[in-house]
Amino acid sequence: MNVLVAGGAGFIGSHLIDSLLLKGHRVICVDKLIMGKQNIEHVADSKSFKFYEAELADQSTVDEIFKNEKIDIVYHLAANSDIQKGGKEPGIDFNDTLLTTRTLLEGMRKAGVKKMFFASTSAVYGEMPDVELTETTGGLMPVSYYGGAKLASEALISSYVSMCDMSVVIFRFPNVIGPRLTHGAVFDFIRKLRKNPTELEILGNGTQCKPYIYVLDLVEAIMKLTQTFSPGEVVYNISVIGEGTTVTHIAEIVVEEMGLHDVRFAYTGGDRGWKGDVPRFRYDIGKVLSTGWIPKHTSDEAVRQTVKDAIAAGM
Ligand SMILES: NC(=O)c1ccc[n+]([C@@H]2O[C@H](COP(=O)([O-])OP(=O)(O)OC[C@H]3O[C@@H](n4cnc5c(N)ncnc54)[C@H](O)[C@@H]3O)[C@@H](O)[C@H]2O)c1
Repeated sequence: MNVLVAGGAGFIGSHLIDSLLLKGHRVICVDKLIMGKQNIEHVADSKSFKFYEAELADQSTVDEIFKNEKIDIVYHLAANSDIQKGGKEPGIDFNDTLLTTRTLLEGMRKAGVKKMFFASTSAVYGEMPDVELTETTGGLMPVSYYGGAKLASEALISSYVSMCDMSVVIFRFPNVIGPRLTHGAVFDFIRKLRKNPTELEILGNGTQCKPYIYVLDLVEAIMKLTQTFSPGEVVYNISVIGEGTTVTHIAEIVVEEMGLHDVRFAYTGGDRGWKGDVPRFRYDIGKVLSTGWIPKHTSDEAVRQTVKDAIAAGM
């Protein structure tokens, strides 16, 4: 198959590309390299890999790529992943998270491409701490521009599915971590402790608790559930089995794995890290588990493995 991976030079997209190439697909990666090129350098010479450095929010660019390449499936992972930066400048989410969805759907419509995988997020639910969130939970009110742009993307996808007979698989990811990670609590804590190994600033009061999924578990699920596409749209909550990990416990794991002692935790206070953050949520993942996919790591194990990966990579 010829697959287009939008945002393929990023953290999750690059792992997905590794798996797609291993399965024998021809991969066309389109990315404007916000995070740099290092995640795809190891596949650059592969005959089955082609890279376009391009702005995906530009319709004529996207149309040109669909004209040049015969695409069977689009994996759409392009988005702004720096939620705090987007919080200061909403235009970033509008361009990178929402407009990229529109241009890709339009490119697909014009080229007659019918299959898409979309990387959505738990942020579409907004703040519903007392509800066990299922894929059919309604009344979604995102509390960040990022969550809003993803929910708007999902709505747009739904309309194209209906109007153009597309088949789309949507995963609502929680926090994803693992090798090549460039943002989030685990990454920040390691970076801060490298600068000052005696004190660690922690955003919020440390009780924020979220599930962290290991990126290779997530990629396995994407590969499994996009082997075949059924008509219409299928949404999956995806996460780990068991509890999430509190921010304080992430800090403890990082300190332990870095071999540090007597680190003072300095909390900035409040029940969340930043405006737009959702400090806790509860996911029902029965639907994705019923497909036979099982994550290999719990949330705590994913955090620990990610710290080990980062240290091994020389961070
Ligand atoms: N990492 C997480 O914890 C997490 C959680 C929920 C959902 N997601 C979603 O998963 C997807 C991948 O996330 P990630 O962590 O790998 O992010 P990432 O930032 O590492 O990768 C995103 C890639 O998209 C590219 N991109 C963004 N806007 C673009 C544009 N306008 N034109 C061309 N390229 C563009 C960037 O250059 C980057 O390489 C995103 O859609 C993100 O919203 C991630």
